[in-house]
Amino acid sequence: MSKIVFVGAGAMAEAIINGLTKEEKVSPAHIHVMNKSDVEQLEHLQISYNVQIVCAERKALMEADIVVLAMKPKDAIDAFGEIASYLNGDTTIISVIAGVSIQTIATHLGSRPIARVMPNTSAAVGLSASAVCWNELVSERSKLEIIHILEAIGSVKVVDEEDLHVVTALAGSGPAYLYYFAEQFEAAAARHGLSLGDARQLFIQTMEGAAQMLKKGDVEPSELRRKVTSPGGTTEAGVEQLVQHKVNEAIFACIDAAQSKSRVLGKQYE
Ligand SMILES: NC(=O)c1ccc[n+]([C@@H]2O[C@H](COP(=O)([O-])OP(=O)(O)OC[C@H]3O[C@@H](n4cnc5c(N)ncnc54)[C@H](OP(=O)(O)O)[C@@H]3O)[C@@H](O)[C@H]2O)c1
Repeated sequence: MSKIVFVGAGAMAEAIINGLTKEEKVSPAHIHVMNKSDVEQLEHLQISYNVQIVCAERKALMEADIVVLAMKPKDAIDAFGEIASYLNGDTTIISVIAGVSIQTIATHLGSRPIARVMPNTSAAVGLSASAVCWNELVSERSKLEIIHILEAIGSVKVVDEEDLHVVTALAGSGPAYLYYFAEQFEAAAARHGLSLGDARQLFIQTMEGAAQMLKKGDVEPSELRRKVTSPGGTTEAGVEQLVQHKVNEAIFACIDAAQSKSRVLGKQYE
C-alpha cells in the first residue's frame, strides 16, 4: 500500500484525508501530515483520523510513494525548498495548489511523476468536481491510483493542463456562482412573502433535483428546460426575463473573466 505524505494540512488536505479514511481507501497508518507551524491542526488530524505526524527527521518524506502538495500558492516555493532534498527519485507528486504549473513544480522538486489537480470546496462533503492532469512520467498504474485517491473527495475528469484554466473558472469557482444564485433567488422569493428558510430549502431541493435530472444524461439541458416551459405559462414568463436581462452574456463574461484571471495568477508562479 502506498505511503502518502500531505505537505500542508489545511482544509483541502483534511477533505482528502477524511474521504480516504472514511472509505478505507488507504490505511491511516500510511498517511502522514506536515504543515508550517500549526501543531494544533496536526494533532486534530491525528486524533480525528488516526493519521501520523511527520517527525522532525522527515523520514516519512524520504519513504513517501506519494506527496500531496496542499499549501496556498504564496507558500509553495518556500515549501518546495523545505522538502526537495528529502524526496526520493520515485516519489509521485499530487499538487492541489491553484495556479502552480507542473513545469514549476518540476523545476523545484526535480523531474518526476507529477499530477496537478483542481478540486473545489465541495470536497468538504465528498462532492468535489475535480479535474486532474499529469506529466508523461506518471505511469498508467499511478494514474489509476491518483484517480482512486481523488475519488475520495468526489468526481474526477482527466484534462490537459492548458484546460485547467477553464476548469478553474467553471468548477473551481463554480460553487460561488451557485451560492450567488441561492442568495438572489432566496431574496427574490422573500420579497413575495416566503420565509428565507423555506425559500432556501425549496431552492436547494430544486438544484438537487435538476442536477439529478441532468446527471441521468439522456436529455439535453435545453430539452429539459423546454419540457418545464408551457407556452404562455409561468416558466416562460420567468425565462423571458432571464433572456431580456442577458443572463447568458453575464455567464459568458463570468467564465471569460475567471479563466483569464487564472492565467494571470498562474504566470506569477512561473
Ligand atoms: N479549499 C478548497 O476548496 C480549494 C479548492 C481548490 C484548490 N485549493 C488549493 O488547495 C491548496 C490548499 O488550500 P487550503 O484551503 O487547504 O489552505 P489552508 O487551509 O490555508 O491550508 C494550507 C496549509 O499549508 C500549510 N503550509 C504553509 N506553508 C507551508 C510550508 N512551508 N510547509 C508545509 N506546509 C505549509 C499551512 O500550514 P500552517 O497552518 O502551519 O501555516 C496549512 O496547513 C491551495 O493551494 C488552494 O489553492 C483549495
